[in-house]
Amino acid sequence: MASRGGFSSKAGFIAAAAGSAVGLGNIWGFPYEVGAGGGAIFVLVYLFFCFVLCFPVMITEIAIGRKSGRNAVGAFNALGHKKWNFVGKIGVLSGILILSFYNVIAGWAFGYTFQLGSGNFAVADNFTAFTSNVFEVGTYGMLFMIATAFIVSKGISGGIEKAAKILLPTLIFMILGLVIYSLFLPNAMSGLKFYLLPDFSKFSFNVVFNAMGQAFFSLSLGMGALITYGSYVGKNDNIVSSAALITLADVGIAFIAGMMIFPFIGYISNGELTGVGGGPELIFVTLPQIFGSIGGVTGSILGASFFALLCFAALTSTVSLLEVPVSYLVDEYKLTRTKAAWLMAGIVYIIGIPSLVGNGYSEYFTEFIQYFNAETKTNFLSFVVNLANDSFLPLGGCLIVFFAAHIWKKENIDAEISIGAPNYEKSFVKKYLSIALPYLVPILLATIFIMTVLVTFFGVDF
Ligand code: TRP
Repeated sequence: MASRGGFSSKAGFIAAAAGSAVGLGNIWGFPYEVGAGGGAIFVLVYLFFCFVLCFPVMITEIAIGRKSGRNAVGAFNALGHKKWNFVGKIGVLSGILILSFYNVIAGWAFGYTFQLGSGNFAVADNFTAFTSNVFEVGTYGMLFMIATAFIVSKGISGGIEKAAKILLPTLIFMILGLVIYSLFLPNAMSGLKFYLLPDFSKFSFNVVFNAMGQAFFSLSLGMGALITYGSYVGKNDNIVSSAALITLADVGIAFIAGMMIFPFIGYISNGELTGVGGGPELIFVTLPQIFGSIGGVTGSILGASFFALLCFAALTSTVSLLEVPVSYLVDEYKLTRTKAAWLMAGIVYIIGIPSLVGNGYSEYFTEFIQYFNAETKTNFLSFVVNLANDSFLPLGGCLIVFFAAHIWKKENIDAEISIGAPNYEKSFVKKYLSIALPYLVPILLATIFIMTVLVTFFGVDF
């Protein structure tokens, strides 16, 4: 292990894994999915997925990683099941795909730091003008990718671990401050109701599968990111309590991000809630308005610091995304870490170009025809987001759990989890996992996956 590096402590692992989980998915993705998914009903389904289905997946990924001490593909080989390493390969591809669009959005957030810092709150009024300026936002994205590659090339402990421990709590405090600010605005309650009081008539299959995708994405599951991070975890660490902390931190931050946005939308729309379904640009339109309403130098400083912290949260996520293909190349192809990091970063940046130009600059990618069906036009970025989050990640999660329970075997998972967790043998978690891993999780995920394929490709309506 020494030659691969490792986390310096349990707190270091939790900080890095929580840093991976907490990112744009919480502050950009979650509110817009809630808006599009009809409010509180989406939140409920989302919480169900996080705690009931994703938590077992997280424990499994970390256990596979720690036991094998290898990357997402090599882990399957090391456990003696080479045939199953295709699961890791799907994971590596999903990571590349996710990072390609993620970096574009991170680039926008980076650009906003400067826009708001210079008092330009109006940037939100014409968001497409901002994103169509591909040379500017493309440069921000490139700088972001360079920062990611630089950190990954330096290895896993050290820098990120330390920075995550200070900057994540700062971000949380800032969001909490903004929650209090928005709750006291007129009409805040209409937004809060939308967010917290479920309207069961809005329940649909779409809500289910978007909530599932969002849960996997936000918790960084389904593509071996936590197998990879798990491989750097020490044998004394308690996997169950680590997974619980990471899940709680991630869900908690997404939840308070919603508490910040929805009351504010209630306020700016005079209680009409127009714009809650704003889609991927929601956060880039609403947040600057919050800072604009504070106004002046204070608004500008708060706005710039908020987006700077958001960029930092995104950076700890992009690092984990890039780490997956990089550790694969380092372990399996013996590339140096530095070479692998820069090579992968370059490839991912290029793959991200359609997502970059698909927001107003290139008509073809802005009005992208999905699955050869002209009625399903969307921008290319949303297309990749949905493909990766709602299909690849849950499929990956399903395969990982199925593999662990039926091929690697439940006794081996239990044995690995017990190391560093003396109370596990008699715990409720162990009992729950003995139902969840072999049956509940794979069956539910496989069912939803098959339904998704039927909806997307065969026009079936549930
Ligand atoms: N979870 C991160 C977010 O919410 C994104 C992310 C980082 C991710 N690493 C991942 C998603 C691995 C899926 C898999 O912003």
